[in-house]
Amino acid sequence: MVRNDPPLYYERHIFVCTNERPEGHPRGCCEAGGATKLRNYMKARAKEMGLKGVRVNNSGCLDRCELGPTLVIYPEGVWYGYRSTDDIDEILTTHVAEGGRVDRLMLKPGDDEIAKADIAERRAAEKAARAAASGG
Ligand code: FES
Repeated sequence: MVRNDPPLYYERHIFVCTNERPEGHPRGCCEAGGATKLRNYMKARAKEMGLKGVRVNNSGCLDRCELGPTLVIYPEGVWYGYRSTDDIDEILTTHVAEGGRVDRLMLKPGDDEIAKADIAERRAAEKAARAAASGG
């Protein structure tokens, strides 16, 4: 925070990407991984856990689509890729309630480039397999 900034509205403001793209889109989307359902779970679970000063919002694309579903927690600016209600529970307990970090789910700059390279490699292998299967 910069001096003279007003106090934060929330201790933790969590943005959960729930963007949806058509099936087969080259970047995929978080909704394909169940983002809305998991965001709703996270919101309900945070309330159930009695976490104060926490807001869980839907967001549009956060531009980490290949790593999705994704979310980011401010003011820390820590990003996570998650897959399940267990992942959400761990993020809420370890990060939000205890102030720690869930290393196994944390996204870091450069991860998306690795994911894009993995996807490109997989697509090339699939294309080669299709060509081989069709005799080409
Ligand atoms: S669709 Fe979720 S980060 Fe892009």
